[in-house]
Amino acid sequence: MAVDLLLGLQWGDEGKGKIVDVLTKDYDIIARFQGGPNAGHTLIFDGNKHVLHTIPSGIFHKTALNVVGNGVVIDPVIFRKELENLDQHNIDYTSKLLISKKAHLILPTHRLLDAASETSKGKAKIGSTLKGIGPTYMDKTGRNGMRVGDLELDDWKERYNLLTDKHLKMLAFFDVDIQFDLKELENEFIKGIEKLRSLKFIDSEEFLNTAIKENKKILAEGAQGSLLDIDFGTYPFVTSSNTTAAGACTGLGIAPNKIGDVFGIFKAYTTRVGSGPFPTELFDNDGKNMAKIGNEFGATTGRPRRCGWLDLIALKYAVQINGVTQLMMMKGDVLSGFETLKVCTAYKHKGKIIKHLPYNIEPENVTPIFTEFKGWESDLTKMSSCDELPQNLLDYILFIEKETEVPIKIISVGPDRKQTIIR
Ligand code: IMP
Repeated sequence: MAVDLLLGLQWGDEGKGKIVDVLTKDYDIIARFQGGPNAGHTLIFDGNKHVLHTIPSGIFHKTALNVVGNGVVIDPVIFRKELENLDQHNIDYTSKLLISKKAHLILPTHRLLDAASETSKGKAKIGSTLKGIGPTYMDKTGRNGMRVGDLELDDWKERYNLLTDKHLKMLAFFDVDIQFDLKELENEFIKGIEKLRSLKFIDSEEFLNTAIKENKKILAEGAQGSLLDIDFGTYPFVTSSNTTAAGACTGLGIAPNKIGDVFGIFKAYTTRVGSGPFPTELFDNDGKNMAKIGNEFGATTGRPRRCGWLDLIALKYAVQINGVTQLMMMKGDVLSGFETLKVCTAYKHKGKIIKHLPYNIEPENVTPIFTEFKGWESDLTKMSSCDELPQNLLDYILFIEKETEVPIKIISVGPDRKQTIIR
């Protein structure tokens, strides 16, 4: 059986957690393939809100197995908190949550290096979540990192000490004052390691490929969004992993010819948290209203998200790079009440009209050109079928489908699992 992928097509926060949770009933295995605790996947059902950072969003279902793949970076401190949160809701994860031995570990000093690097950048900072993501992936590609499997070695503590000492020397190179109590940070880290050890460490690529041969249905869950991809995103204002479809192959050990459907998730408008260019960003009341109605605050950091109109040029770029076969439109309900909606359908770039995402999309290089649509008044949040949707929203949807040449199969009209319309 092929592996389906689920990816964010914008700058993250599209609503991947909710959709994985909705789709999990059709899958045997949910596998996270990149990122780490910089992600915040929100799930709302039965009156409860859950935010997952590293654990796959299939964990709340009774039978699905959940795999944290080799491409993920794990902070044992945050992971422990996530598990304790599941304990509070009596979720039995010990038999359902499997961790790749090849996943890399975020050390306390990775977080310190992240903070030092960001502080030293001043105004040019990335706007990182400061979870140590960049430094951990740097150690991975620099061939210095520590992996989950290392915890089974007798000398894991010596390896930890060596890497930590190296980080402390690197910290001294930054001309910034980062306050920390290493003893306290290490105590938390060790507690996290102990909790992590209560889970099963596996050769995840072997496990997943065996599952494919046994015709098990697998959903690969991405984190962040395509425009934050280390190669194809708005570099350097990106995260440090491949958030796009190819990342699922390297982050799980799945061959490209084993990929089936690619589900691409996007918001009916656009948001971004952190620094970096955002051509359709709004600074007026429309933007403020989107932020307020859409409750646009980061699930991991609580930072307010920047809001703007849908950027079809960027969306088409993401659809192309990922080979998206089905689209899912989130938060259409947030646009109810706007008299006019705008969609960016071209850029003015160095005096020319272009219809692709160029190398530079900073405001001095790119001006968005908008197509306008009539808004709608009705509240979508209680609607449960396409027949109930207002015609102006349907026109908006049809336009996006025509431009992207991909069908929109799911329309989400609220944060709850139940507020999901299947087309
Ligand atoms: P980092 O991955 O924490 O280093 O952050 C790099 C950039 O990606 C920053 O602009 C973050 O705000 C952004 N980012 C990282 N993770 C997420 C996410 O899950 N949702 C949205 N933005 C994210």
